Amino acid sequence: MARLPEVLAAITDPNERELVFRAYEVSSKAYAPSSKFHVGAAVRTTNGVYVGCNVENASYGLTSCAERNAVFAAVAAEGDGIEIEAVAVYARSPGKKVKTASPCGACRQVLAEFGRDAIVTFLKGGRFASMTVDALLPEAFQLY
Ligand code: THU
Repeated sequence: MARLPEVLAAITDPNERELVFRAYEVSSKAYAPSSKFHVGAAVRTTNGVYVGCNVENASYGLTSCAERNAVFAAVAAEGDGIEIEAVAVYARSPGKKVKTASPCGACRQVLAEFGRDAIVTFLKGGRFASMTVDALLPEAFQLY
């Protein structure tokens, strides 16, 4: 596992720091032989914390992002009543300094399903920034 980045220490809120640390930890489990971009995500619901990492595939389009894997783990654990309060994303790539790693568009839509007010913390220009899912995906698709 890569050394704990100083940017983590800069997060003052202990709950937020804990969530980012969980994302950092699980990024070491990523299966990313193609991109070498190792992503970890941690989702805090009203009942617990769930993590996920990206899992790539030889058939590239089948790759599954860390954020969605974390959300799906939360649903598998808690069922359809889940409410997401906060999300943290961390990414690293051997030999490179990853400065920015925000959730992709597809993951934003999946996050919006379970918590439009959830706070998402992610690397933005070399520091952690936090904003709501709603700010990341205004006018998210809703069925009814
Ligand atoms: N990836 C994520 O895990 N989350 C995102 O929000 C964007 C991209 C992964 C997918 C792929 O394995 C690698 O990062 C490079 O795109």
